[in-house]
Amino acid sequence: MGNINAVVNFETADDGRIAVISLDNPPVNALGHALRSGLVAAIERARDDHAVAAVMLIGTARAFSAGADISEFGKPRKPPSLIDIVALLDTLAKPVVAAISGLALGGGFELALGCHYRVATQSARVGLPEVKLGLLPGAGGTQRLPRLIGAEAAAEIIIGGDPVPAAKALALGAIDAVLEGDFRAKALDFTRAKAAAGGKPPRARDREDKLAPAKADPALLDRVGEKLLRRVKGLPAPKACLDAVRAAVNLAFDEGQKKELALFMELLTSPESKAQRHVFFAEREAAKLPDMPASVKEKPIHRAVVIGAGTMGGGIAMCFANAGIPVRVIETEQAALTRGLDRVAENYRIAISRGSLTEAEMDKRMAQISGTIDFGAVAEGDVVIEAVFEEMDLKRRIFADIDRLAKPGALLASNTSTLDINEIARATKRPEDVLGMHFFSPANVMRLLEIVRASKTSFEALATALSIGRRIGKVTSVVGVCDGFVGNRMLARRTTQAEMLLLEGALPWDVDAAVLAFGFPMGPFAMGDLAGLDVGWRIRKARGVKAAISDTLCEAGRFGQKTGAGYYRYEPGSRTPNPDPEVEKIILATSERLGIKRRRIGAEEITERMMYPMINEGARILEERMAMRASDIDIIWIYGYGWPVWRGGPMFYADQVGLSHIRDRLAHYAANSTDKMLTPAPWLEKLAAEGKGFASLPVQTIAV
Ligand code: 3HC
Ligand code: NAI
Repeated sequence: MGNINAVVNFETADDGRIAVISLDNPPVNALGHALRSGLVAAIERARDDHAVAAVMLIGTARAFSAGADISEFGKPRKPPSLIDIVALLDTLAKPVVAAISGLALGGGFELALGCHYRVATQSARVGLPEVKLGLLPGAGGTQRLPRLIGAEAAAEIIIGGDPVPAAKALALGAIDAVLEGDFRAKALDFTRAKAAAGGKPPRARDREDKLAPAKADPALLDRVGEKLLRRVKGLPAPKACLDAVRAAVNLAFDEGQKKELALFMELLTSPESKAQRHVFFAEREAAKLPDMPASVKEKPIHRAVVIGAGTMGGGIAMCFANAGIPVRVIETEQAALTRGLDRVAENYRIAISRGSLTEAEMDKRMAQISGTIDFGAVAEGDVVIEAVFEEMDLKRRIFADIDRLAKPGALLASNTSTLDINEIARATKRPEDVLGMHFFSPANVMRLLEIVRASKTSFEALATALSIGRRIGKVTSVVGVCDGFVGNRMLARRTTQAEMLLLEGALPWDVDAAVLAFGFPMGPFAMGDLAGLDVGWRIRKARGVKAAISDTLCEAGRFGQKTGAGYYRYEPGSRTPNPDPEVEKIILATSERLGIKRRRIGAEEITERMMYPMINEGARILEERMAMRASDIDIIWIYGYGWPVWRGGPMFYADQVGLSHIRDRLAHYAANSTDKMLTPAPWLEKLAAEGKGFASLPVQTIAV
């Protein structure tokens, strides 16, 4: 509790010569209204107190400040704004030092840039992540940072949005010193020295020297833009970031700041930013379990065991090793184990060749992973994750063995993507410790982890799985036991429609083009080729279902990239999909064989039939309480399947389109199709009739 207000404290040191203004708005010093108004009052007090010769602004160990309070966006703006605060700092004749420990992000870093000096702890990180919310830094960051570190480096930080470690920020000139030891005392020493030095304190806004290279070479920022904007295909925020940096180079400071603000206000109301802000909060909500009693404690996890060193097992082991958790991988035979561990090493080597990992780091990570063919090693694990072949009998046998060997209380998880976790849990005498941990391939890369709550799973087990997810850097969502859980269950609806589109008149490249244009990184057919068409073929055969075209391709040995041909043709050693006349012939012949009259299908119909059936399934999933929130489904699709973040996820997207439109289109397609799953789901019907969206649904508990 501060003496200015609840979140800002003012005190003095050195007999009143140094004012120390502390920011304490947990958890991360978001610059909400109280913090902003408290800051103004404190800065004015320091300004007006004649005894004060210098000012230090300091946050908490976790954060100087994580920026503007995102939850205030979209609401009426209450003065003072952050721009007002920084403008006030600009008028001060006394030096102001920002003492940064933890994070200084977004508006928090802009506040620091408005100070005359910046000092930081070694572990501090600074940055301007606004672009990840579909925004740009709107409190002078795009004007001050280029003046401190040059336009090119600033553009990279602002467009990339990633935090910069203190050492790099120091080398670039974004901060003035990295201080070791007692940070507060050292920062105070620094402030004292600046007070003693006297003279006019330096303002970032007055600097011109670092802008010289960009002024001398007007094409410099074009080249930077070409390099950095290629990945983000026409999104407004990254382009606006570049335009704002350009304004820093070409305009006087005040003009540049006006331009920045105009761009910021435009982005604030953009659909992309609205979606990205939704995702920010949705991601954090997804990790919360509404019915979890506050007293539940997660179990400590010191060691992990992964059973199976195949595609998934190896990737899962890497997740633990990357997080510094020792992991034992168990296989049936030495050859399979060696193959699996070699693949892990190969993955790390690829990371080294791309420059994203050092040799030393690889050695450290590999040292965390050890393999064995002795199943008794299960006893070592605080968590045991099974990732063997997708066969119920095998999994039940393995869980019975795990039950005999694992330590009491160990978390027992299956990575199954289709099997019933309740049945697996019943193979043990401790079903309360059993749940699903459904990773996505490649497990070391994909951020999503579906945590499957079975009927007997304890809260302790769930809390432990959520905590493991956090430690290994995953975005978690708790889901219920149903066929395909949430993600794959919705995907199945899209897959059915994709095949039907081919039979009715489209070609794989038409469908993929529409899905790419929507914003996915890959279309369903290119994705099928990448994953291997034989996987689905085997599952279909086991279940006695058919997919005329995919089955025909598999019968012809076209399994996708691994055989050089699938829905597309691949040149040896290349992953580029090439449309293949052979496939067109197969598709046309299949339509004819099934007596389907082909017609021209436009991109709009393709897009609707790719997206709306999934949304419909999402409505069923919610009705069955297989997901807790519509926004959890958004998170699953964004982090597991590449749904474009700037479209906010399928359920958010549905709300933007309007549920009555989606219901009408589904009803239209259902009337002309044998796919009964196109019939609008009851909850979609109900919400549409009430003129509501999925966002209006309250959070619910998973049905068990
Ligand atoms: N506004 C409002 N709430 C915020 C927030 C912010 N800027 N930053 C974090 N929070 C909240 C989170 O929602 C979460 O709330 P919860 O506990 O109720 O779920 C809580 O703070 C803790 O956050 P995390 O769980 O994310 O904690 P981590 O330690 O994992 O991460 C972080 C901390 C890196 C700061 C991360 O929260 C983050 O990236 N925050 C957003 C940073 C950002 O984008 N800043 C720019 C804002 S826009 C801006 O400043 C505009 C300006 O240019 C005018
Ligand atoms: P895989 O075939 O690549 O690997 C399975 C491994 O398990 C093999 O190396 C095999 O030798 C080993 N194994 C079999 N029986 C064993 C036993 N008794 N003890 C120890 N090891 C044994 O399979 P993949 O793709 O890794 O899948 C594993 C599991 O993960 C399956 O349940 C699958 O459904 C699931 N999954 C797969 C995804 C994918 O994209 N491949 C995605 C998400 C889940």
